[in-house]
Amino acid sequence: MVFSIKAIILENQKILPDFYRMVLAVPSIAREAEPGQFVMLKTSNTLDPLLKRPISIHRINKAEGTIALVYQVIGRGTNLLSQITQGELEVMGPLGNGFYWKKDYKKVAIVGGGCGIAPLPALAEELVKDGKEVYVLLGAQTREKLLCVADFQQLGCKVQVTTDDGSYGTKGFVTEILQEFILNTKIDQVYCCGPLPMTKGVIKLTKENLIPCQVSLEERMACGIGACLGCACKVRNEDGTITYKKVCHDGPVFTSSEVIIDD
Ligand SMILES: Cc1cc2nc3c(=O)[nH]c(=O)nc-3n(C[C@H](O)[C@H](O)[C@H](O)COP(=O)(O)OP(=O)(O)OC[C@H]3O[C@@H](n4cnc5c(N)ncnc54)[C@H](O)[C@@H]3O)c2cc1C
Ligand code: FES
Repeated sequence: MVFSIKAIILENQKILPDFYRMVLAVPSIAREAEPGQFVMLKTSNTLDPLLKRPISIHRINKAEGTIALVYQVIGRGTNLLSQITQGELEVMGPLGNGFYWKKDYKKVAIVGGGCGIAPLPALAEELVKDGKEVYVLLGAQTREKLLCVADFQQLGCKVQVTTDDGSYGTKGFVTEILQEFILNTKIDQVYCCGPLPMTKGVIKLTKENLIPCQVSLEERMACGIGACLGCACKVRNEDGTITYKKVCHDGPVFTSSEVIIDD
């Protein structure tokens, strides 16, 4: 059973025009958290908005009992969140199932796009600690929406970037550099988090090249703990039959072979 607990806000700073980085002191969540998991945050002290908002865990510091989040301001909840500078925040987590890796993986690739990049530094940190060679391929619309490049570089990952408008890195989509990259490098696992068209492209390329892939999905969420069925997504079982799973409880990370993304 996961309960709401109070976290102390240590930092909530604008890092890009629409993005904030928040650091919370919340030892019980930091202790349990794994890369790819998320928290549900209460964004105001009133009943409006009523529902907590899901945000992925961006960095985990178990020694200091803190987690960091990176979020984009897109609506009422995240706008209210961006205005809180100190005090306490009601948080529930860590929630969902995160990414996995195996000891024998040597080279892995992380592919992130848009605000889907936010949870990936926590993953990169663990993969680097476990001795993997970590390649990071990032995509954003423009330089002003490009997250976490310095986080990955400081961890020692090999980073390539695309922007739609060419304002940073290579002009184009991240799937275009992934295609070239996997032709030239033997990769044991691809990890992906980003907008649906990107995720779809990554699933197609990894399937064609027989590379195992894990993807993190997003759905609108109400409860975050598997109780409301609000975040159901269509998946394919091993025997080919189709069923539904809950992104909050069974995901957000799934193996690419089970994910079905409708057009
Ligand atoms: C598991 C999970 C992890 C997430 N992690 C992050 C993160 O690390 N950083 C980050 O910036 N965002 C993340 N999100 C998205 C974030 O939860 C939404 O942006 C946020 O809930 C919007 O709340 P709001 O009140 O500001 O906007 P609302 O007023 O609720 O909505 C504003 C607009 O955003 C759209 N929207 C709302 N929720 C989602 C969603 N889940 N997916 C796609 N569109 C949505 C709505 O359709 C609407 O158009 C995550 C979502 C999930 C499900
Ligand atoms: S958000 Fe309620 S079941 Fe997933």
